Amino acid sequence: MTPQLNDQPGRFEVLFDRAEPSPADRPWIYTNFVQSLDGITSLLGKHSSGGDISQSREDRWLMDLLRAHADGILMGMNTLREEQRQRGPDSRGIVFQVVDPALRELRRKLGKGRDRNIFVTRGVDLDLSWHKVFDGDIVDTAILTSPAGAERLQAQGGHSHVAIISAGDKETLDLPRAICKLREELDVKHLLCEGGPTLYGSLARADLVDEKFLTVSPVETGQLVPPEQERLPVEQRIPILLRPTIFGGPGLPYEQMTRWTWLSCRKAGDHQFHRYRRKRA
Ligand SMILES: NC(=O)c1ccc[n+]([C@@H]2O[C@H](COP(=O)([O-])OP(=O)(O)OC[C@H]3O[C@@H](n4cnc5c(N)ncnc54)[C@H](OP(=O)(O)O)[C@@H]3O)[C@@H](O)[C@H]2O)c1
Repeated sequence: MTPQLNDQPGRFEVLFDRAEPSPADRPWIYTNFVQSLDGITSLLGKHSSGGDISQSREDRWLMDLLRAHADGILMGMNTLREEQRQRGPDSRGIVFQVVDPALRELRRKLGKGRDRNIFVTRGVDLDLSWHKVFDGDIVDTAILTSPAGAERLQAQGGHSHVAIISAGDKETLDLPRAICKLREELDVKHLLCEGGPTLYGSLARADLVDEKFLTVSPVETGQLVPPEQERLPVEQRIPILLRPTIFGGPGLPYEQMTRWTWLSCRKAGDHQFHRYRRKRA
């Protein structure tokens, strides 16, 4: 995957760039996140989206560039739920796709088909008809879930166009195996993970992240939700509410922390745009 960040002259100043393509026998997984200067990816509450941290046209453009190269965009279900919640109670949510016309054209030239949105879920309380992304008219969709989750989703009927990929045992999803199935069953070679932190943590603990695109936004937020921030109903019963970093859930012990090669760095205004590749022995 060799995104051309120079496609927008005048916007990105190249500081250095040592990117090179790498082959893989499962989907090559690259991630794209934005964080504050102090490492926060969501303020939680009413302004919980990555866009609230980013506030950058260039970052939005970079998101499209990375999407243009992807055979699928992988997300945890909460990222979809949050985007939908922010649009109000009558919203059926959003569809994740390339919007910039020039980058849509780039995608076409790269021979990529329709955008594909792929969600990870336990499938416990997911009704496919609540979310317009599963209607099938704008993007292709797939779901990675446990065998029990797959059974529940298939029982809903009416969504045969949604590819349900199951792996694991009963209620437990085997995420590495499900990701291999994306390659085998849907020919996904380049998989872009756009979050959120819970899903990233699952991928990182399984050492499945090959490359990271990281935008550092010139804002500082602090980690503990301040008392003056209005809490959502689901946040009200949590006494100590911490804003997430990229890596949700249990982390890695000292002996297993992962190392990364810093491939490139760009800036646009006061935003930094980093690219890292996993250094494997
Ligand atoms: N700054 C950024 O770049 C950025 C990027 C993305 C998201 N965000 C923000 O992050 C927040 C959402 O993050 P999040 O961590 O709460 O949620 P998330 O990672 O988007 O989704 C978590 C959900 O995904 C499913 N899931 C993830 N890993 C799984 C696994 N190993 N097995 C089975 N199911 C799995 C589960 O869905 P079910 O509950 O359906 O079982 C889980 O509840 C939002 O506020 C969003 O705006 C920020």
